[in-house]
Amino acid sequence: MSVGVTLISRTHVRGIIVILLLGTLFNGSIYLQRSLQWPCFSLIPPDIFIYFFTVAFNGSQLKMRTAVRCLFILLILAVSSAVHACPPSERAALLAFRAALQEPYLGIFNSWTGDDCCNRWYGISCDSVTHRVADINLRGESEDPIFERAHRTGFMTGHISPAICKLTRLSGVVIADWKGITGEIPRCITSLPFLRILDLIGNRLSGDLPADIGRLRRLTVLNVADNLISGSIPASLASLPNLMHLDLRNNKISGPLPQNFGNMRMLSRALLSRNQISGPLPGSISKIYRLADLDLSMNQLTGPIPDWIGRMAVLATLNLDGNKLSGDIPASVLVSSISDLNLSRNYLTGNVPDVFGPRSYFTVLDLSYNNLKGAIPKSVSQASYIGHMDLSHNHLCGPIPSGAPFDHLEAASFVFNDCLCGKPLKAC
Ligand SMILES: *[C@@H]1O[C@H](CO)[C@@H](O)[C@H](O)[C@H]1NC(C)=O
Repeated sequence: MSVGVTLISRTHVRGIIVILLLGTLFNGSIYLQRSLQWPCFSLIPPDIFIYFFTVAFNGSQLKMRTAVRCLFILLILAVSSAVHACPPSERAALLAFRAALQEPYLGIFNSWTGDDCCNRWYGISCDSVTHRVADINLRGESEDPIFERAHRTGFMTGHISPAICKLTRLSGVVIADWKGITGEIPRCITSLPFLRILDLIGNRLSGDLPADIGRLRRLTVLNVADNLISGSIPASLASLPNLMHLDLRNNKISGPLPQNFGNMRMLSRALLSRNQISGPLPGSISKIYRLADLDLSMNQLTGPIPDWIGRMAVLATLNLDGNKLSGDIPASVLVSSISDLNLSRNYLTGNVPDVFGPRSYFTVLDLSYNNLKGAIPKSVSQASYIGHMDLSHNHLCGPIPSGAPFDHLEAASFVFNDCLCGKPLKAC
């Protein structure tokens, strides 16, 4: 305690106060003088020189030492504050990224001028502490005034330059809905250790998904929907432990789903429709406890619809329509948490299981275009709700039951069966 008191002399206290005061002045002036290039001297406000020369002429050695110390600290501050602008290497990487793209209609890159890429460059945000580029957010469809003024949505050609991978602190990359960006997803993207969001929807990107995409340990969103991505789903994709949202819809992806697909334990939406994915549904999917939305429609899936799929805890939407699935409809899917079920246009056979009950709640139940036979089960009227139901284009036979939900369905829901009859079709 006493040591502390003797160490903090009055001179020190004065020195500290001066440093604090000047530091405040100085910080304010940094922003005013940012445009000046020489960091050490241009950033130091005149106040410091005034203080410096005042004490120098007053001749006190102690004060002089305090002043020199003060100046030294402020110089360090000045240098580190100059570093606070976007690092020149990151600015260069962004300019290389921009050079590979052509955006003729909106001028979104017009703001990419000046030294500080963290300062009002359209679509660029930086970490407020490190001043490293953290997000690239370029959407071709947005509410931004830049689009309103142009009265159009965005269009860009060119490719995504690998220079983007030099921005090693990137956490979000959104280059979405530009319609004309071609080329591959840069392979090096998997070397960005902090990447959480990769959203490249709505371009014309081709080539495979990077084989080592599993390296992106922090990735939560992967969206490459509406592109021309081909090849198969890399096995390493399944080792993304934090992925919550996977959207590969409307590409040219082929081959089977990886066996270990279910290793993505955080996955809640898996949207893979309109590709050429083949093979069976891997059993590991049953382990994705948070999966709420599974869309595999319009692919080439074969094999049966597994029984476990109806026992998934929170699965609400299951779209398997437009595949080559065969076998019976498992009873479990008709008494499950699934409320939006489309199994249309497959090779499903057997009867519609007579298991509907209070747990059956469907906004959509589409079983059309299969090879289902037998009668419409009477238990359908036990369901708590069925909004849209389509049983058309099967081999069903017998009377259409009466009561809910049949009283609000139209003939289109029942046409093209073998011998269904009764309202809304013609009487039996
Ligand atoms: C179910 O899928 C089929 C085939 O893909 C599609 O035509 C139909 O509109 C879907 N049903 C509903 C209710 O969305």
